[in-house]
Amino acid sequence: MGKKYVNAALSESHDKNSMPVLEGTMGPHAVDIQAMYEQHGLLAFDPGFRSTASCKSAITFVDGGAGVLLYRGYPIDELAQHSNFVEVAYLLMFGELPDDSELARFRASIEQHNLLHEQVLSFYHGFRRDAHPMAVMVGVVGALSAFYHDIMDIRDPRDRINAAIRLIAKMPSIAAASYTYSIGRPQRYPNNNLDYASNFLQMLFGAPNKEYEVDPILARALDRILILHADHEQNASTSTVRMAASSGANPFACIAAGIASLWGPAHGGANEAVLKMLVDIGTPKNIPKVIARAKDKSDSFRLMGFGHRIYKNFDPRSKVIQQSAREVLAHLGKDDPLLDIAMQLEEIALKDEYFIERKLYPNVDFYSGILLRAMGFPVNMFTAVFAVARTAGWASHWLELQEESHGIDRPRQLYIGKTLRHYPKKK
Ligand code: ACO
Repeated sequence: MGKKYVNAALSESHDKNSMPVLEGTMGPHAVDIQAMYEQHGLLAFDPGFRSTASCKSAITFVDGGAGVLLYRGYPIDELAQHSNFVEVAYLLMFGELPDDSELARFRASIEQHNLLHEQVLSFYHGFRRDAHPMAVMVGVVGALSAFYHDIMDIRDPRDRINAAIRLIAKMPSIAAASYTYSIGRPQRYPNNNLDYASNFLQMLFGAPNKEYEVDPILARALDRILILHADHEQNASTSTVRMAASSGANPFACIAAGIASLWGPAHGGANEAVLKMLVDIGTPKNIPKVIARAKDKSDSFRLMGFGHRIYKNFDPRSKVIQQSAREVLAHLGKDDPLLDIAMQLEEIALKDEYFIERKLYPNVDFYSGILLRAMGFPVNMFTAVFAVARTAGWASHWLELQEESHGIDRPRQLYIGKTLRHYPKKK
């Protein structure tokens, strides 16, 4: 990573001082303002982090203008086509694709850790049956820290890798249990004869009293969804994980914080919101009304699944998901009217000046709900699937942060409250 020095032109009196510009391997350079407060007594004001690189990272690269997403340099569509989720998790964590024996060892360690402690399963009974799976997952994943705290030393690289593997291994079991508990069905154990996605499917949809045959087309489609959602650089949930981790917190508690952040409708909760929106639209003839509402500034309604903080072009993941949705619907012989509504909505929005001007394109969530629904996932499990996938990314960022920790994250603020005043004297 190169370093240049430019004049930051803060004000005339500060011109003599310059601040370094850091160059990454790809993407925009960054002015290093770490010394700015000390040197100039000024803070940078960037509340939504629109112009702030919060860290250096070598995991994922996004070029939102060009619609590019790379994991460790590999384009997302190539990984979705040729790789599998476990291999991608290895790539994210360790930086290189594994050879056959590395992959076999990694897979074996995931299989070794995919069971839940029986006491963890008993937590579920404390939740209401109708609790949202994400609410349950925040609680259960956070509670894992009570199981693996004393035996783990986060300063030890081997313990760190173990924690990351435990998380990736247990997430499908945790997510599946939050669903099976809600419908009152006993949870099937993981089956190590199956791959990661197939295993997730059998725990979700299989009953313990009969055989469950995994449909390989559905397993492949789920695996692809997991690959596409595995990481996305410094998004809200990943930044939340990093910030929680910066204090040296337990990794399971950090990932629980990430799940909490992911749940919001502006982030991972959007796929659920898209499906609800499509159901509300009901028929293509209502699309113009919905478009008009999305454009009306006096209405808080937004077209869910459209727009992205980073992508000002097609989200490369949305193309893969759309294709996958078509394939799965054709395989199942289903003709989902919501897919027609979604495609017509996309077509109309992409021709509309409002969306063109603001560079609002369909994001990954626009079609993922349709795909997951076709596969039998209940709507409130959509974000839980996203959380299972993103655990690979969160864990990789957690590992990266431990290697290069810059100390605790402590943003400052622009104070706009009352100036000093004194407590009134009592008479
Ligand atoms: N529908 C209608 N208008 C929109 C939409 C939308 N979905 N998204 C953005 N806009 C408009 C805004 O009203 C704003 O208009 P203005 O300039 O006239 O005020 C302009 O586009 C820019 O919007 P911002 O909110 O500044 O964009 P930001 O980058 O902050 O937001 C976000 C990105 C949150 C994703 C937003 O586009 C949105 O709410 N989309 C719908 C929710 C969604 O699909 N989220 C999933 C994101 S992908 C993920 O997390 C995996």
